[in-house]
Amino acid sequence: MSAVSEPRRLTIGSSTGPYEVIIGTGQLAEALQAMPTVVVADRIFESMLTGMWDGRPVLLDATEPNKTLSTVEHVIQEMKLVGLRRDGSMLAVGGGVVQDVATLAAQLYMRGISWSLVPTTLMSMTDSCLGGKSSINVGSTKNLVGGFYPPQTIHIDPIFADTLAPADLACGYLEAVKIAYCRGPETFLDYLRVATEPGHAGLTEVVSLTLSAKRWFIEVDEFDRAERRMLNFGHTFGHALEAGSHFAAKHGIAVGIGMLAALRYVAEERALTEREVALGDYVSGLVDGVIDRVDLHRSTDWELFRTAFDSDKKHRANCYALILPCQEGLGVALREIERSGDSLQRVQAALEGALRGSKP
Ligand SMILES: NC(=O)c1ccc[n+]([C@@H]2O[C@H](COP(=O)([O-])OP(=O)(O)OC[C@H]3O[C@@H](n4cnc5c(N)ncnc54)[C@H](O)[C@@H]3O)[C@@H](O)[C@H]2O)c1
Ligand SMILES: [Zn+2]
Repeated sequence: MSAVSEPRRLTIGSSTGPYEVIIGTGQLAEALQAMPTVVVADRIFESMLTGMWDGRPVLLDATEPNKTLSTVEHVIQEMKLVGLRRDGSMLAVGGGVVQDVATLAAQLYMRGISWSLVPTTLMSMTDSCLGGKSSINVGSTKNLVGGFYPPQTIHIDPIFADTLAPADLACGYLEAVKIAYCRGPETFLDYLRVATEPGHAGLTEVVSLTLSAKRWFIEVDEFDRAERRMLNFGHTFGHALEAGSHFAAKHGIAVGIGMLAALRYVAEERALTEREVALGDYVSGLVDGVIDRVDLHRSTDWELFRTAFDSDKKHRANCYALILPCQEGLGVALREIERSGDSLQRVQAALEGALRGSKP
């Protein structure tokens, strides 16, 4: 395993001021040295924190059903209990679930306190840690409410990826390649090169390349109105597959299959480019390493899939909004297609083809 000596640093511009990302070893200890008043962490890090921090962390179970407003309220009550004032600070340690809850709690507590983040899943290191978004589930609706409230510093230590389950690791790489692909041909080629480098050094390269690419999107379009929407590549198909499969497909895996479906949709119209074929091959390899696509096809409720696709909040009244690969510009673009039964059939056929696994 190769050691990473000097930490990498990246500054991100945002409407609330710049914030910094540091990537290197020992970043949890580094973050604790800033003496946060309160630490909100995934419960699995309880014993790790006991040896490193004197206080009593607020521990959360990182499950989707736990990503609720009442969990946010619980965190806020704990913050009050330890006497956190407006000049104090919070440190969040965990993946996307902990991040979503902590972001909203930090934004709401006394109308906003300073906070920092140690992302511990590959998805949160390469994707969700940047952008300052929070998304909380309400009732049965996923990610219905939230806000924008970036942390002050993001401390990334690739060592956390060592203990991730293979599916969580694959989810991280799938979101990462999506960002690199959407940023354009050169970034995608650079990604394919660094993604095969071994150990923490390779992971550091993947994380910094992906975050630099994502930084471009959030700096030109912080509030998700134009360029940043391209990052929904794979997501419109993917979210509907998550719902149709009763969440048997994890988010990152569903997004991967969503990218394959988008490629297949385009392959019905024209021959795929070399770059598009390379994306398909890379994504298929990751997906097949952790899930049986044929099983998933069999167990998916297709009526539920169509209902979920139809009600995606990204569509407009008369048309479906798809992010599809294209030959111009960065390589993906928004395409609006007529909202009709025929269009829905074409969308389903593309996704079914992606699940059957034959080449587009
Ligand atoms: N706010 C955003 O911008 C944004 C973006 C994308 C996704 N999300 C949200 O993120 C959530 C998914 O987050 P996630 O994929 O990071 O995973 P997660 O937080 O759901 O964690 C997945 C599992 O991995 C465990 N885990 C965390 N770190 C670990 C480690 N280092 N070693 C071993 N196990 C570890 C957790 O305990 C959990 O069991 C979803 O709720 C999604 O909606 C938010
Ligand atoms: Zn995603």
